[in-house]
Amino acid sequence: MVDNQVVLSCTYLTVRAANKNITTLEGVQKEAKEFADFLADEGADQCGYCAPGFIMTVLAMSKELNKPSEEEINHYLNGNLCRCTGYKGQIRAINKYLEFKSK
Ligand code: FES
Repeated sequence: MVDNQVVLSCTYLTVRAANKNITTLEGVQKEAKEFADFLADEGADQCGYCAPGFIMTVLAMSKELNKPSEEEINHYLNGNLCRCTGYKGQIRAINKYLEFKSK
């Protein structure tokens, strides 16, 4: 995240991050593990290559949106690619995580 906004690190020019606050997965370990457990429970963590992107995106989304719709979730996930799972497990994990966070 750059200044608390999720960005796609593979397309974000480093020079644009000058003098901005950068948050990586290592900076949100507790929350990341919490959501990663939901990914594992829903079988959405096969090779794990996509997990950091999903985790950072979902953590940012959960802070920005209160009870996001399915359309908003899909929009937020745009650009996060998973070559293994077909996304159904991630969507189940996200919905269960958001429900857990709203309690
Ligand atoms: S679990 Fe392998 S790319 Fe998503």
